[in-house]
This record gives sequence, structure tokens and C-alpha cells, in this order.
Amino acid sequence: MMLLEIKGLTKQYKLGEALFSAVEQVDLSIDKGDFISIIGRSGSGKSTFLNMLAGLLNPTAGSVELDGMDIYSLKEQEISRLRNTRLGYIPQGSCALSSLTVFDNVRLPFFLSKRQGDSAGRAAYLLEQVGISHLAEQFPSQLSGGELRRVLIARALMNEPDLLIADEPTSDLDVETTREIMELFGRIHQSGTAILLVTHELDTLEFGNRVLTMASGRLTQGVHISSVNTSQINSVPKNQ
Ligand SMILES: Nc1ncnc2c1ncn2[C@@H]1O[C@H](COP(=O)(O)OP(=O)(O)O)[C@@H](O)[C@H]1O
Ligand SMILES: [Mg+2]
Repeated sequence: MMLLEIKGLTKQYKLGEALFSAVEQVDLSIDKGDFISIIGRSGSGKSTFLNMLAGLLNPTAGSVELDGMDIYSLKEQEISRLRNTRLGYIPQGSCALSSLTVFDNVRLPFFLSKRQGDSAGRAAYLLEQVGISHLAEQFPSQLSGGELRRVLIARALMNEPDLLIADEPTSDLDVETTREIMELFGRIHQSGTAILLVTHELDTLEFGNRVLTMASGRLTQGVHISSVNTSQINSVPKNQ
């Protein structure tokens, strides 16, 4: 079943006198069962694209349809409500609120959209799912980088989104922790949540059912090595 239908999505910025397209004419259909990875160099337009999908940045042209309705035809408040209830978005570099415990960080989206139900029960369940139940009463400053990512993932799942969107969720993590976080995304996908991940690294590509490459604002099918960060390839130790 179709979840999101993106057509001709474009974002232009002024560069001196000229216009340049950070995102140019992107078409993409996201299905309920998808786990999509988008790779591409820094500056290729990935975050701009995700921000438009999440209803946070007005496109210059094109549309983002959720259930057949263009979200940008809606009022600001209605877009926020959709974002809070249908999408789980983990923006690039997002962090947990330092004054709240892990448990309360996870519950936050529930209170933002004023829903009915057992938020404490759901938060406890999610902490268990992401493997950090024992850290519920800790504060973010007491956690490791990998543990913090788990908090952000649990928080994004709080309102049972149809689609979980994450922007470079494994950046700055070591290889082992990256693998654990990717396996976690795999389990979330298995349990029925569609996933859209953006990365500039290659080591996450074995996860997911579709890989796309973003280059100069354009999205194409498949992996194009010339369009990604090859530092990892270069850093592989050479045989003596
Ligand atoms: N608010 C903005 N104003 C002008 N240019 C921007 C703005 N936001 C992003 N850009 C430019 O758009 C391009 C794509 O940026 P971004 O989407 O952040 O790339 P990525 O996430 O792939 O690293 C970059 O050249 C960036 O400098
Ligand atoms: Mg980015």
C-alpha cells in the first residue's frame, strides 16, 4: 500500500544573483513495506529533501502526498499534526532534551500532540524494544552515543508512525554500534514500520530493500559509488 507519493519535488535557493536547486525534480513513491536507504555526499540535498517530506520546509515546486492529499495544501497546524502522528522524524544531529530523563524524552511526542492512551506503558515498551530499559531514569548526559541514538529512535516511534525517517542516524558511531543501530532499524521494519534512512556512508547499505543515490539534488535508483563518501574504502588497511 502506498504511503507517500512525491512528485517533482524541488527546492531552490538564491546563490548570489542566480538560483540553485538543492533538490531538483525528485519523484519517489514510498510503500508501507519499504525500507529505503538514500546515500549521497555531504551537500547533495539529502537533508533538504527529508525536511520537505516531513512538512518542515516548503518546496519551491512539486508535491508530497500522504493518503492522496498534498500536505503543503494544508494549514501549518494540520501539517504539524500529521508530522506528529503519522511520521517519526529524527533530523540530522538531533538530540535529547538534557533536563528530562530518558523515559520522559521518549514520552515527549505523546504530550506534544495531546493523545489519549497509556504513554507510560508505551514508553516502557519502546525502551525495551530498543534495549535500554535499564537507563529509563538516567539523563542524556549520562549516556553513550549509541544509547542516545536509541533514545531518539524510541522517541520517534512514540506515536506509532507509519514511516520512520532518520537523517544520518549512525554518524559518529563506531562500526560495532553502527551495526547494532542498523539491526535495530531492521527489527523496527520487520514489526511493520516503513523506514527511510539517509546516510553518507556505505556500511549501512546491506539493510533495507531499496537503495537510492542523491547527487546534486537529483535522486536516482541504485548505488553510484562516485557519489558517496569513499573515505571508508580508503581507510581499509592494506595487506602488508
Ligand atoms: N537554508 C539554505 N539556504 C541556502 N542554501 C542552503 C540552505 N539549506 C541548504 N542549502 C544548500 O543546499 C545544499 C544541500 O544541503 P543539504 O540538504 O543539507 O545536503 P546534505 O544533507 O546532503 O548534506 C547545500 O549546498 C547547502 O549548502
Ligand atoms: Mg544532511
